[in-house]
Amino acid sequence: MIELDNVAYSYSGAALFSGLSLQLAPGSFHFLTGPSGSGKTTFLKLCYGALRATEGRVSVFDTDVADMDRDAVAFARRRIGVVHQDCQFLDHLPLAENVALPLTVTGQASVDQVDNLRELLTWVGLTAKADALPPELSGGERQRAALARALILSPDVILADEPTGNVDWEMSQRLLRLLVELNKMGKTVMIATHDLMLIRAAKSLVPARILRIAGGTLQSAGADL
Ligand SMILES: Nc1ncnc2c1ncn2[C@@H]1O[C@H](COP(=O)(O)OP(=O)(O)O)[C@@H](O)[C@H]1O
Ligand SMILES: [Mg+2]
Repeated sequence: MIELDNVAYSYSGAALFSGLSLQLAPGSFHFLTGPSGSGKTTFLKLCYGALRATEGRVSVFDTDVADMDRDAVAFARRRIGVVHQDCQFLDHLPLAENVALPLTVTGQASVDQVDNLRELLTWVGLTAKADALPPELSGGERQRAALARALILSPDVILADEPTGNVDWEMSQRLLRLLVELNKMGKTVMIATHDLMLIRAAKSLVPARILRIAGGTLQSAGADL
């Protein structure tokens, strides 16, 4: 699905990381952990084409990102659902419209034409909040809304950046179970998190590969957690 081959990235000056290689196989489940500032968000951005590798090769659905123009990246992005770390919404639009936004902004459908919107809101447990405005939502509700929005285009891959960043333990378990459920439905999932408790909790739910990014390199981190 997504493949990184000997990738380096630098914002300016020294490389943030280098020599990174990874294959996200269809249906796989990965955790990406590492200290704050180690490059987890940057890594995800390389995976969905928001940034281009300074060195090495990133391919998305068998196409080299370096060969993709903006339209091609936008097209590939439709198959990758991203849950952003800061989950921003348009505060003047009700939750349901925010979730449907990836479809409605492109003029493909109006909110009531989006078939799976209701189903998606039920699945994340936000039916009762469909008409609420984003500032009225709790942290956990925002995170679940961000997940629903990432899924509205039925992507094959879900990249979640600290999806449990602002929620209590119970809610983070709930979000984890939703992500595991998506993986059981065949979706490829990668979760960036510094929360080792969450990764430990996942062990009994899903066979996940655990990667750790630190000091500019990527390592497997299964055994020491
Ligand atoms: N747009 C940017 N310009 C310059 N430096 C950045 C930018 N975004 C992130 N960085 C720096 O790159 C490093 C890695 O950031 P990030 O990928 O967000 O790490 P993490 O998600 O692991 O906390 C940090 O030192 C951060 O300050
Ligand atoms: Mg980050």
